[in-house]
Formats: sequence, structure tokens, C-alpha cells
Amino acid sequence: MYTLGIESSCDETAAAILKNEKVLSSCIFSQIDLHAKFGGVIPEIAAREHLAKIGPIVDESFRQANIGFDQLDLIAVSNGPGLIGSLLVGVSYAKGLSLRLNKTLIPVNHVHAHVHSLFLNNQSVDFPALILVVSGGHTHLYRLKSPIEFELLGFSQDDACGEAYDKVAKMLGLTYPGGPVIDKLAINGDADRFPMPKVSVKNFEFGFSFSGIKTHLYRLINQLKQSNLLKDQIADVCAAFQKVAIEQLIERLRQACAKYPDTKTIGISGGVAANSLLREKLAEFDKSLHFLKPEMKYCADNAAMIAHLGWKLHHQKQKDEWDVFARYPYE
Ligand code: KG4
Ligand code: ZN
Repeated sequence: MYTLGIESSCDETAAAILKNEKVLSSCIFSQIDLHAKFGGVIPEIAAREHLAKIGPIVDESFRQANIGFDQLDLIAVSNGPGLIGSLLVGVSYAKGLSLRLNKTLIPVNHVHAHVHSLFLNNQSVDFPALILVVSGGHTHLYRLKSPIEFELLGFSQDDACGEAYDKVAKMLGLTYPGGPVIDKLAINGDADRFPMPKVSVKNFEFGFSFSGIKTHLYRLINQLKQSNLLKDQIADVCAAFQKVAIEQLIERLRQACAKYPDTKTIGISGGVAANSLLREKLAEFDKSLHFLKPEMKYCADNAAMIAHLGWKLHHQKQKDEWDVFARYPYE
């Protein structure tokens, strides 16, 4: 079965073709260069750029997969959460294509799809699994009993982890996106040079919080700027931030493993899953658990993960039920 995945929820226009679980093509046009000078994504610019790129990127995904439109069985599209103008482009395109080709269209939750970046290419997974989705927009901890049974255990009460990386980088005058830059600088920094606040999220067992760390760093960075010390200590600031941010992620996973001793697999996905410290810490986390991390190319937003979840969901409902989504306007 051939599935086309379409992703346009933020600043990547992406299309992918899967043959069952195998990725035949995964094409991504990233808008990072367009938004970099603003230090973050500008929604209006993002939507316009998706409009320009969606057609060519879908054509390219078919070309690389070496199949024709007539061979397609399913279309899966990222249906939220995300920037509304950006989502509209992908969803409208997918609806048009589905009606034109008379193919079933499946709406896919973007955050759930990040989890499926771990399941691509017939990756074998033992359930139950605890999976952290850590991206620029989300910090969600899920427990899964199967590839499509998601229980949301906790999420960030304020900023997403990746967003905090981007904002701290902006305060330090570094480029966007901040995650990879901070990750690289932190390697040569002294993480213990600056004391950082201990994060506690009251009333939410698996809640995350990054805004307090951000405010603490805002003050610290301003102090260092005033005394002209920032230039020499950027690496130390990056290391201190990275340590406290990643420790929080690891700590929640540890708590969740203690609460759910039947857990067989742990995993990370989303843009921050590319982080070197997070990967290093989880590799030595608990050797009795299977540890899943996405290939680097599937950490960030992509359409292969959308197609994979769509393909799995397809087995759940009748064609008619899905087709209601293709026929009615996007809400
Ligand atoms: O999943 P993604 O591409 O887009 C969203 O759905 O948000 O994630 C992008 C986020 C950005 O905030 C970026 O700074 C962060 O992932 N990121 C990293 C690293 N690489 C990307 N954060 C920490 N360490 C990294 N190596
Ligand atoms: Zn994402």
C-alpha cells in the first residue's frame, strides 16, 4: 500500500511516500533561512512560502519514490496542532488531491506523528512504551500501549523545551534555531559555573516547565553583559542551561518508569531529540529497556512520520468515515 504524507504545520513544507512502513521518499523544504533574521517563525511568511512549495515538493516525493499518482492508495496530512495559516495550505492541498484522485484522506495529529518517526522502516517496538516528544512547540510525555494508543502523561505548563533553546540563543545573540548552536557550544562549557534554579511543577505529576529557567538566564545574561563578561562565558551559560533543561526531561522519564514498571521501551522524538546530551544520558539510562531514537533526518518535522501514522490509523475506520474529512471545509 502506498501512502503520501503531507506536512506544513510550522516552517517545513514536506511530502513523503511510504510503501507500507518503508520510506520510499522524504522531501523537505525548510524555511529556516527565511525566518532566521527574525529569531523565530513569522506565521504569515511561513504560510505564503508553504503555498509556493507544496506542489513542487509533492511532485518531487513521487519522482524520488518512482511511482505515479495513479498508484497511490492513501493520503495523510498533518491536521494540527500548528500555525493555522500553515496548516491550511497542507490540509487544503491534501483535500483537493484526495477529491481529484478519489483516495482516502486521513487527518493526523502532528505531535502523535513525531512518535511515529521512531517506528519507520519496520522498526520493531515492544510495548508499553514511554515516549518523549520534545520540539520547538511541544514537550509531551506519552505512554503507548500500541502504535496508536496514546496516553498523554504530562506536558509543558509554559514554554516547550525547543522554544526555550531558541529564546536563550536569541538572548545570547546566537543564530536561529538555537538548539543546535547551544548544543555545540555547551560541549566546551562548564555546566556548574553558574547555579541554576531547580524546576518543580506543582500539581502536575509529569508537568514540565522551562519559563523559570529562561527568566533566570535573562537576568544572568544581562548581568554578564553589563560587566562585559558575556563574550568569554557564553559556552558556560549554554552548558548550564543545557544541563538543567535536559536533566528535567530525564527526571520525568525516570519518574514515569518508576510509576509504570511494565515499561519495555523508552524513546525520544522531535527536534530536541537531536540533542547530544539527551542522547548520551538516555543511552546509559536503563539497560533493561529498549531505547529508541529517531534517525537524525527524522528528528525535525518531516512527512514520513505523518504518512506512517496515517497508514496505521487507516486500519481503524471505514473509508466513508475518513472521507467526511476530505469533503468538508477545514475548521
Ligand atoms: O520538531 P521540530 O523540527 O519542529 C517543531 O515541531 O517544533 O523542532 C525544532 C526545535 C527547535 O526549537 C530547535 O532549536 C530544536 O528543535 N533543536 C534542538 C537541537 N536541534 C534542534 N534543541 C536542542 N539540541 C539540538 N541539537
Ligand atoms: Zn514538530
